[in-house]
Amino acid sequence: MTAAIAIDPRSLRTGPPPLSEQSVHVWLIPADEWTLGVAVLDRDEVARAARLRDPLQQRRFAAVYASVRWILGGYLRTDPDAVRFERAACMRCGQRHGKPALRQTDLLRFNLSRRDGFGLLALATACELGVDIEAAHRARRMHELWPMIASRDEFAHWGRRRSGSRAAADSALRLWTRKESVVKALGVGLALDLTSFSIASEADANGWRSVVGTVDATYVLDLSVAPGYLGAIAVCGEPRSVSLFRLRTASGAR
Ligand SMILES: CC(C)(COP(=O)(O)OP(=O)(O)OC[C@H]1O[C@@H](n2cnc3c(N)ncnc32)[C@H](O)[C@@H]1OP(=O)(O)O)[C@@H](O)C(=O)NCCC(=O)NCCS
Repeated sequence: MTAAIAIDPRSLRTGPPPLSEQSVHVWLIPADEWTLGVAVLDRDEVARAARLRDPLQQRRFAAVYASVRWILGGYLRTDPDAVRFERAACMRCGQRHGKPALRQTDLLRFNLSRRDGFGLLALATACELGVDIEAAHRARRMHELWPMIASRDEFAHWGRRRSGSRAAADSALRLWTRKESVVKALGVGLALDLTSFSIASEADANGWRSVVGTVDATYVLDLSVAPGYLGAIAVCGEPRSVSLFRLRTASGAR
């Protein structure tokens, strides 16, 4: 993974960094720094923002979705407000509230995670992927969740040994982040029992770990996204090279 490159979202109008078939692009969106207009949001996004009670959460939600539109619009070579989303069928009930996808094309896949003032958007061509960002301070409550996160092998390997310690809590959050990225790549979300699959304890030379127990071949990679936050990306198929970009503080309205 390369170090984060800062990019002004307006420069995306002339095309984003090239995305090869062997790579994944991950964009960190610092929502609290966003000052471009949010006029690009669609009716549904405006309504979702309005339903949030806290004005800070409203601003962050709008900023993340505006950024997502700018970024995806760059890759699709279209205006941010022309990006169209759809939802896959839910793997549990069949209704169309499953994994979000682009209506324009099924070649470009993306996945989004939001936490506090950050959005994390991952993109790749012709490969399902999932991404997660978590705040490190959440680790405090995590050690209680080991039985809901770790498979029998993982629990035997490190859960029991460090039970109750700070290290156990940090490990539990790390495992949670990895596993959430996996269930998002698979599109099933937390409907899949996290204890039903394992993440390899050893990584390959590029940091990818194989996932054991899922139907699709899946790999997961830890991401260093921002101080105090943990990130992970999972891809179905083969491991890819990952480039991390950070939207640069932008000023001036659209
Ligand atoms: C997907 C899921 C894991 C997200 O977890 P989270 O910690 O709340 O949130 P994150 O910020 O990491 O990710 C949220 C984003 O994931 C994406 N997402 C939603 N559903 C998804 C799915 N099935 N697969 C992958 N990504 C999904 C969306 O872009 C969403 O953004 P939004 O909250 O702005 O709409 C969780 O919401 C989930 O498990 N959903 C499915 C639950 C389910 O199966 N319900 C069955 C109903 S019948």
